[in-house]
Parts: sequence; C-alpha cells; structure tokens
Amino acid sequence: MKRIDLNALNGAFIGGRWTPTADDRRFAVTNPADGSHLADVADCGADEARAAIEAASAAQAGWAARPAADRGAMLRRWRDLLVEHVDTLADILTAENGKPLAEARGEILYGASYLEWFAEEAKRLYGDIIPSASGHNRILVIKQPIGVCAVITPWNFPNAMLMRKAAAALAAGCTLVAKPAEDTPLSALAVAALAAEAGVPDGVFNIVPSSRPAEVGAELTGNDRVRKISFTGSTGVGRKLIEQSAAGIKRLSMELGGNAPFIVFADADLDAAVDGAIAAKFRNAGQTCVCANRIFVERSVMADFSARLSEKVKVLSVAQGHESGAQIGPLINKAALEKVERLVADARGAGAKVKVGGHRHEAGDLFYAPTVLEGVTAEMDVAREEIFGPVAALMAFDSEDEVIALANDTPYGLAAYVYTRDLGRAWRAGEALEYGMVGINEGIISSSAAPFGGIKQSGFGREGSHYGLDDYVSVKYMLMGGLGA
Ligand code: SIN
Repeated sequence: MKRIDLNALNGAFIGGRWTPTADDRRFAVTNPADGSHLADVADCGADEARAAIEAASAAQAGWAARPAADRGAMLRRWRDLLVEHVDTLADILTAENGKPLAEARGEILYGASYLEWFAEEAKRLYGDIIPSASGHNRILVIKQPIGVCAVITPWNFPNAMLMRKAAAALAAGCTLVAKPAEDTPLSALAVAALAAEAGVPDGVFNIVPSSRPAEVGAELTGNDRVRKISFTGSTGVGRKLIEQSAAGIKRLSMELGGNAPFIVFADADLDAAVDGAIAAKFRNAGQTCVCANRIFVERSVMADFSARLSEKVKVLSVAQGHESGAQIGPLINKAALEKVERLVADARGAGAKVKVGGHRHEAGDLFYAPTVLEGVTAEMDVAREEIFGPVAALMAFDSEDEVIALANDTPYGLAAYVYTRDLGRAWRAGEALEYGMVGINEGIISSSAAPFGGIKQSGFGREGSHYGLDDYVSVKYMLMGGLGA
C-alpha cells in the first residue's frame, strides 16, 4: 500500500499546485474520537477562492474541448488510484470524521464508484435531432458543459459527496472549485493529490479548505465566473446560498436536510425490517441525510419490532473508529452531541420511553450510546427535527392512510422507507410518499447508478445515474436551415 503523506496535505490545491494562503493562515483539524491534533491546513479566504476560480476558468475551455473519451479515461485512472489507496484514504477519513474504519473503506469505494460511473457516462452525453415543422430545416440539440462549478461538501461523507459532484462535473466537461467542510478537509486534499497523479490537468480540480465558510461561500456565489453551485448540507445554509446566487442567476443543485420516515407494516418480514432499520438509522452513527428519522411501526407489531430492534441495538459496538469491530463512532462535534441530548430529553419529558441507551457513552467525549425510544409522537422535537445521531424514534400507527399522512407531514422530502409484503401497498405507499427516494424493503438506497436527491425543502437536482450528468450541462438548440425543398 502506498502512503499519502499527510504532511503534504496542508495547502490549498489551486491550479495544480499546493498553495499556502498569502499570510500562511492555517486551521487545525482534529480527531473527533479523542480530540487529538491531525494537521494544520491552509485557511483560505475570498482571495484564495478567487484564485481557484481563476485557475478553473483558465482551464475550462481546454477541458471542455477534450474528447469525452479522454475525460472518461482520466476519471477511470483517478478511480483506480482511489481503489489502490483505499486503506490510506479510509485511515484519513476515520481520523478526521470518526466513522468506523470498515465504513470509511466502504465510503471510499462508494466515492470511487461515482468516478467509474461517470467515466462511462462522459461518452454518452447524447443530443437529439428533431424533425421541425418545416421541411427546410432540422432542430439540433446538443449538451454543453455549464462552465466553472463551485461545490460545497459536507463532513459526514467527506470523500463520497465530493466524488459524486466532481465525477459528474468533470465528465460533463466542467471545471471545479471545491470547498470541503472545515471538520474534514483532509479527505478532499488527499483525492486532489490523486487527481494530479491521474493526469487531471492543472486548474480542472481545485480545493479551497477554510474555517471561514461564509467568506468563501460569498465569493463562490458572488463571482460571475462561477456558473453553478452544488451544495450538500443543511437546509438553512442551502437557503442562504440560493439567496446569494440569485443575483448572478446561477444554476444550482441542493441536497439538503431530511426527516426520513421508515414505515413498517404488520405484514412485513420483521427481521428484514429490523436489519433495514439498523442500516438506515445507525450508519455513520446516524449522521446521514437519508437516516431513518421517524420509525413508524403498525401498532399490532410494535412490541415485537421494538424488542427485536432493541436486542440488536444493545450489542452495537461503540468504539473509536480505528478499533477493530467498531460499529458506532463519535458524533462530529460538541454541538451535535448536545443536540442529540436535547432531543432525547425533550422526548422523555413528553412521555417517550427509553428502551436502550439514552445517555452519553464512555468511549469518549463525543460519543452517544445507540438509543431506542418508544412512544414518540409527531409533536416531539425528535420527530420534527433531523436527529443526526444514533437515536431510533419509534412511533405507532393504525392504518395506511394515517401513516402516509404522518410521513408526509414535514417540510422535508429526501428519503423514505417502506417495509411490507403486500405489493399493492408497496406501490401505493411508494407513489404517495412525498420524497425524492423511496426504499421498499431496503434500508440502504445509495448507489452511483441511482438518482440521489430530494424534493420540498430537501432541495433539488439529482446526483448519480444518467440524470446526474444533466445537472452539469446546458441544453443548446441549433436550427439547421437551407436544406432544400
Ligand atoms: C448524505 O447523507 O448526504 C448522503 C448519504 C448517501 O449518499 O448515502
């Protein structure tokens, strides 16, 4: 296994060069599992963001002009390098994010799968020839890269969310400036090192780490050379970025917060539903946008489901991500831990029962014990807010109509899950749920082959699949005339 030198990952990556800020300002990256110091990274501001935009802008025409097959081949080489370095990249990811090493490894391969997918899709950016109303001409439709894209990525999937955006953007012929989350910039810098090794030309892929997201965000959204913003993160920040981008009429993709319902009907395979709930709830210690937030269980099977779930949650191994067998790592920071504590306290105060957990965990300062709450109701904060922690909130329901209404009673619309053996009910629920994605008898729905994205206040735009490329192209229509009679 080749090592990526962590000490080299301390600059911004602008125009193919590792670049300090003008005043050599840096910020510290720490390990959430134990608070240890990992690295000091260039703390970019508006000046560095502007320099990165200029580098991307200078590279744009050349990158767009390359044959799609060349762009695809480069993405494929980049993917191979991610796979070759999977252990090192997973090590870095676990260190800065805290997730268990096995999950971090899975995330690197998940991120690499987007490069593989879009390396192929680059070659399939088809247009159309449409018969026109007149016999003298034809309507031609081509798809062209939007131009310089700025992407702002989250700490919960520091590799995969960046690769999901970068792979589609680069495949379409766009260049890119990325601002990774301040908690987890090292994973982004590590893949930049590999992009250079894969032969991605200077300026095509730039990274500006920063502890001042508002300053960098203002430059990215305010700069006329940036033609598109793609963001994954909270609805609040997404709303602000949309407002800031309005003046420049930029293209936008927003993957925002969720409040996923996970519905278990009495006719479901309960063991499969329990396993699905564990996967959908406790992946990344409950810190995913698609995490099961409200687990609705038909009243007649609630006691059985709750007992089976609790047995499995009790034995989840809570430990530092680098420890062998770890299944639940720390939360990302103190604010996240305090939010989970507040939600559990509020639910308890309003009558919910703690079946498992319900307290901090001794594994470290930012660990919270995997928790099962029974008797949660729609008014409780834990059912209205995105938990982003390892807390399963169980809510009873009596009928299909009731649960669909409860599930849709939220401003969010990212992911939903349904467990039932009744095919008619599966279709009805799948169509009635106001969500961008619905897992039917499946707790993990993410895949590079599928269109990931939400509706309502969970955002818009799709990532992955052939739909993902559309987010990075403009459709141009040309009318070809003079064709004779
Ligand atoms: C997210 O939490 O934003 C993404 C999760 C995924 O891709 O599965």
